[in-house]
Amino acid sequence: MNYSFKPPLKWAGGKRWLAPTIKMYWNSYPDHETCRLVEPLCGGLAIALHIQPNYALLNDINQHLINFYIQIKEGLKIDSEMINQSDFFYKRREEFNTLIKNNEYLSKRAAELFYYLNRTCFNGLCRFNKQGFFNTPFGKYKSINYKTVFFEYKEVFKNWTFTCQKFDETDLLRTDFIYADPPYDVEFRQYSKDGFSWENQVELATWLSKHKGPVLLSNQATKRILSLYEDKGFTNTIHMGPRYISADKNKRIPVKEVLAVKNIDIIEHSLAQASLFP
Ligand SMILES: C[S@@+](CC[C@H](N)C(=O)[O-])C[C@H]1O[C@@H](n2cnc3c(N)ncnc32)[C@H](O)[C@@H]1O
Repeated sequence: MNYSFKPPLKWAGGKRWLAPTIKMYWNSYPDHETCRLVEPLCGGLAIALHIQPNYALLNDINQHLINFYIQIKEGLKIDSEMINQSDFFYKRREEFNTLIKNNEYLSKRAAELFYYLNRTCFNGLCRFNKQGFFNTPFGKYKSINYKTVFFEYKEVFKNWTFTCQKFDETDLLRTDFIYADPPYDVEFRQYSKDGFSWENQVELATWLSKHKGPVLLSNQATKRILSLYEDKGFTNTIHMGPRYISADKNKRIPVKEVLAVKNIDIIEHSLAQASLFP
């Protein structure tokens, strides 16, 4: 097991900080050596890369992300230049959008560009306009350490399957260990975060509650998320996330996150250890 695996991309809502706690749940599950880890909204893979299960099914609705992982599985090596410079960035962004326009976005070249854009753009944001074209601006980082060879991930991905569909189309086995991490619920706002509406949050909770095997869900601990999962028989635990509510440093309050758990028993002291030694 290699503990040094960092996710290859920057990804909004990445859960590296929660990974040791989730691993405690995983380790406490008696069949974890043989069962499959399923992440129906896998994003940047922080959890799968930390746990490194033998078998995994990793799904996300973002086709560029999944294409990138599939290309890694096939042995991705980037030979083309990657430069942290504004003009160069906008040319590469245009090239990426041309691939989208020409229906060539599930290619090795698209994966190379996706990686370059992710590392170089503002905050690693994966943002598209209404026409489906990538539109995040240049990131203005002082320096960027670009990776060109992804062979070590290829080895880890060997028995992992990547799919691109809506979370509830994920084909589950009864014994699957599910970890679900949707875009955060944002209460008191009309619009939905990243297109994930309150109806989607309810659909996800309903879908997860039907699974007979172990389930973990993380989300912002809004009142309605807490009662949604409690009503569906989950046990909620609250964790202080690394994000803050206020931009004013003196008034910064950490955002509370919930981990909703079903069909997993865990020894309390293991959890305490997980938060002491992240
Ligand atoms: C908070 S991120 C997951 C972060 C991940 N756990 C990590 O540590 O990097 C949520 C992910 O859900 C995906 N997503 C949003 N709506 C979805 C849907 N309906 N079905 C599947 N995936 C979806 C997004 O593309 C995004 O990658």
